[in-house]
Amino acid sequence: MAKRPRIAVVGSANVDLTTFSNQFPKPGETIFGQKFDLGFGGKGANQAVAARLCGADVFMVARVGDDLFGPSTIKNFENLGIDATHVRQVTGVSSGVAPIFVDPSGQNRIIVVKGANDALKPADVDAAADVLKSADCIVLQFEIPLETVYYTIKFAHKNRIRCILNPAPAQPIDLNAIAHLDYFIPNESEAFAISGMPVCDVDEASRCASKLLASGVRRVIITLGENGSLLAGSEGMQHAPAYTVKSVDSTGAGDAFIGSFATFLGEGLPELEAVKRANLYAALSTTGVGTQKSFYDRARFDAEWAARNKS
Ligand code: RIB
Repeated sequence: MAKRPRIAVVGSANVDLTTFSNQFPKPGETIFGQKFDLGFGGKGANQAVAARLCGADVFMVARVGDDLFGPSTIKNFENLGIDATHVRQVTGVSSGVAPIFVDPSGQNRIIVVKGANDALKPADVDAAADVLKSADCIVLQFEIPLETVYYTIKFAHKNRIRCILNPAPAQPIDLNAIAHLDYFIPNESEAFAISGMPVCDVDEASRCASKLLASGVRRVIITLGENGSLLAGSEGMQHAPAYTVKSVDSTGAGDAFIGSFATFLGEGLPELEAVKRANLYAALSTTGVGTQKSFYDRARFDAEWAARNKS
């Protein structure tokens, strides 16, 4: 039986308010949308849920607001079997929220209001040190303060814990501060924003990954949507193609990739194999509406993987 990974996510929790619409309003205009969905989201929480549904033991370190969404977000973690001991409510601040707009092709546009996520500080990482030290992987994103992200990378390095950073949403970063990461996993637009190099295909992704590796990042995976993913390290690059699915809502697909990759890798699978499986897990998440609620559990995923990999 595969090893059961212990994954800690230090990151965001939001509530997603998703509107499905055939068109988007011009300034001053009111139009009708077609459908609405309310669900739990936030890149950190989504990655935690993906890892949990794939079978990992998961620990969340996060902050929520003192509104309706705060307690229900904590309850959602608990219902899914995610340890939420270090998810605390902050007074006088809203929870993180994300109005999301999805077009008929399934493509999304997201505005994040960070709210309580901005209150997650390095001292909170220290307060969760015992739990974090018990993990074999720490996963980070950019919806919490950058100082907390950099602090946690140092914490993971000092304690020899595998550390994965998903630089989403993109923002200018100090590449020196991320040199001790084990995995740096941007999508095309994040890779472009951070490196200044366009990433529209696999060749451009290879050139961008080379630049990121040259700046000290140890291993890079660039997720490329319908072009799959590129895995890059000092020994070279490997491309893992995407899987074909009927996509209705791509929101959270990147998070599905990160959470599932952390789990597959933690189970001891070879890196490229973990990337291939994460590609499929992410693709399958786009076949349902919403973010966390579109993620497959392990049994459904394994059945789909087996069906697509019959020899
Ligand atoms: O990656 C998708 C997520 O981005 C959504 O759940 C939303 O909350 C934003 O954080």
